Amino acid sequence: MKFFIDTADVAEIRDLAATGLVDGVTTNPSLVAKTGRDFFEVLREICDVVPGPVSAEVAATDFDTMLAEGQALAKLAANIVIKVPLTPDGLKACKALTDSGTKVNVTLCFSAAQAILAAKAGATYISPFVGRLDDIGSDGMELIADIVEIYQSYPHFTTEVLVASVRNVNHVIESAKMGADVATIPPGVLRAMYKHPLTDKGLDAFLADWAKTGQSILNQ
Ligand code: G3P
Repeated sequence: MKFFIDTADVAEIRDLAATGLVDGVTTNPSLVAKTGRDFFEVLREICDVVPGPVSAEVAATDFDTMLAEGQALAKLAANIVIKVPLTPDGLKACKALTDSGTKVNVTLCFSAAQAILAAKAGATYISPFVGRLDDIGSDGMELIADIVEIYQSYPHFTTEVLVASVRNVNHVIESAKMGADVATIPPGVLRAMYKHPLTDKGLDAFLADWAKTGQSILNQ
């Protein structure tokens, strides 16, 4: 499973990239607005830190402008992936950008029907928003299971399932169990994946017992 970091906060990305576990980054207009910084400047810095796919979302909703914005964003760096919303114009732009060699992440997916359309439009990634489905009492993970099952039936579908709107560690675990290709994970959720009280307790006990030996591994 690939781990993308879901933030536009360059300091957070730099910190987590140092773990060696970060395969890419996803941003969206809300995450960029949260930084209070220039969009293109943020994207350039992120692409310098993470060599993997970096999703940058268009702001337009009409085909022509989405295409122009996507082409402008793609020029920023070779690892830029263009994010478009799952709308008729968005999928038209997805097909045009894909046909011209630009990778596309189709976002704001909330149904299996939408995911089929995105795969037919040649999307590199589909981003089903599991957390927002859970928020309204739907089952976000059920959507992931449906999309994975459908895509497996069509080998010519090359679209990768990129689980988005991840709110907790369980979303990552369940997505992995279902064979989703990617999870885009908020920094706090990725850090939470390391934590278990028994690990902390066990390490404390090892260190206390080692201290009693009075030995040092390096000073031999
Ligand atoms: O990548 C999409 C993600 O940022 C949306 O997450 O928590 O706003 O639903 P959220």
